[in-house]
Amino acid sequence: MTQLNLVFLGPPGAGKGTQAQKISKKFGLRWISTGDMLRQAIKDKTELGKQAEKYMKRGELVPDEIVLGLLEQLLSTLNTGFILDGFPRTVPQAEKLDRMLEAKSLTLDGVVFIDVPDEEIIKRLSARRICPNCGAVYNMIYNPPKKDEICDICGTPLVKRDDDRPETIKKRLKVYRNQTAPLLDYYKTKGILIKIDGIGTPDQITERIEKALLDMGK
Ligand code: AP5
Ligand code: MG
Repeated sequence: MTQLNLVFLGPPGAGKGTQAQKISKKFGLRWISTGDMLRQAIKDKTELGKQAEKYMKRGELVPDEIVLGLLEQLLSTLNTGFILDGFPRTVPQAEKLDRMLEAKSLTLDGVVFIDVPDEEIIKRLSARRICPNCGAVYNMIYNPPKKDEICDICGTPLVKRDDDRPETIKKRLKVYRNQTAPLLDYYKTKGILIKIDGIGTPDQITERIEKALLDMGK
């Protein structure tokens, strides 16, 4: 298998993290979630975390220079294929990514767009729990942990995300539509957009993504 470099794109709660975790394991790729990196920086109380926190709490995008700084550092040390989950989120970020990859003689092989309607998103995010230690994602309705509120993988107590409150979810959806959705055209024009129906069980969606990647010859 060739080295595979992917972006997972979609509205908040579409299942980007859920799928990135599964696909990265199956294909031996590095899972890079800018949201998780920022949440870790907040937890570690770093200067960058302090700056990012106020935007994330409001459901707004963190300024480009903060996210790009994080990512540039990481990409320079990468020696495997990757899944970027939650990056890029604006056209300027996508343009910057193109330049960063070009400088490393890398290409983006596919942009997996997970399509889920708003009503389903609100339902999913209201019931989400995450593991603050290993990043595993659960849902109290659709995929609860085996033991109540405890991570199946590492045994850590699960938490709710700060931005999963109803008014913040609505704001995130608005930000997605205004700032991130234009990326669909950006990548469609480049011929690398892969649209996946995000309604179904997580395993069904993993199968759809795998099939689409194999159809691409990867
Ligand atoms: P980020 O952490 O990326 O959040 P997001 O894009 O809003 O997406 P989510 O993580 O909420 O959803 P997801 O698609 O990963 O879904 P999940 O798998 O968890 O970003 C957070 C914030 O950080 C941003 O608002 C911004 O402030 C900042 N930020 C991050 N990147 C940035 C950037 N590049 N530039 C600027 N700012 C940036 O699934 C959701 C729930 O549904 C879970 O409970 C899951 O168990 C469940 N579920 C998953 N699949 C299914 C299914 N098929 N059926 C039923 N339930 C399912
Ligand atoms: Mg996520």
